Amino acid sequence: MSDEPRAPAVAGQPVENIALHLFLEALFHRHGYDFRNYAKASLKRRVRALAVSAQCNSIAELIAPTLNDPEFLTTILQHLSLPVTEMFRDSSVFKSLREQIIPYLKSYSRLQIWQAGCASGEEVYSLAILLEEAGLLDRVQIYATDINDTALHQAEEGIFSASRLDEYERNYVQAGGTRALSDYYVATAGFFRIHARFRKRIVFAHHNLVTDNVFCETQLVLCRNVLIYFDSSLQNRVLRLFHDSLCRHGFLCLGTKESLRSAESADLFTDFDRPNMIFRSK
Ligand SMILES: C[S@@+](CC[C@H](N)C(=O)[O-])C[C@H]1O[C@@H](n2cnc3c(N)ncnc32)[C@H](O)[C@@H]1O
Repeated sequence: MSDEPRAPAVAGQPVENIALHLFLEALFHRHGYDFRNYAKASLKRRVRALAVSAQCNSIAELIAPTLNDPEFLTTILQHLSLPVTEMFRDSSVFKSLREQIIPYLKSYSRLQIWQAGCASGEEVYSLAILLEEAGLLDRVQIYATDINDTALHQAEEGIFSASRLDEYERNYVQAGGTRALSDYYVATAGFFRIHARFRKRIVFAHHNLVTDNVFCETQLVLCRNVLIYFDSSLQNRVLRLFHDSLCRHGFLCLGTKESLRSAESADLFTDFDRPNMIFRSK
């Protein structure tokens, strides 16, 4: 073995890649947010967009405010964490939760569910509506977590723009809903607020899938459209975390564009409803 010091992994790469590496190191060491194992191509696009919005000419110019301006962190997280979501997104997944998973959950007298990467909360309220329709709302404790505190605050409030209500009504019906979605919210000028009985069953909390550990035992973990942003080593870490959190034969629901490709993850889960990306822990 040579005693020569090893060249850093980014040596010889285009300058922008080196700048990205240094920016991610600055973000981690200054603020503790670790994006170093996010999938690089999409991360680079988002960091470029951050540079444009912060009126920086390059990714390298983001490093100084990241180190020196504590308020810049909120802007960084808004750009890097993408809290985009909707109610009953991918309605066939919610139909499957309603028809195939919830009947299993009925056998538990107390239920714990973890939704990781809840963004502004539309998805977790959709799930809570399904649980109420199945008569399970009173026995459930849902933990909805994210790294984006602005999104978590909106989720906790449960107030959303009414501009997408028509689309949400359609999604709800396609997910097998037979009532009116308006049974579950109060409308005010331009907004609607989810009823307090749903909000009471959900604890919204800051939790980082990259650096934090399991905090509860659950029968169902929903983590949709989050792993897609991670590289394969980070995906494996997070899948192990979900496996450790789930009870025996507990359910894991991922996003429809995600996958359980690695051999390691195939050892942890079996298929339950593959088209809707629902698995059971081994
Ligand atoms: C595209 S949204 C998905 C929201 C929702 N699950 C859905 O499918 O509609 C991705 C969410 O993952 C969150 N996220 C990204 N990295 C995370 C991490 N390391 N730990 C926890 N949440 C994370 C983001 O803040 C964002 O709210």
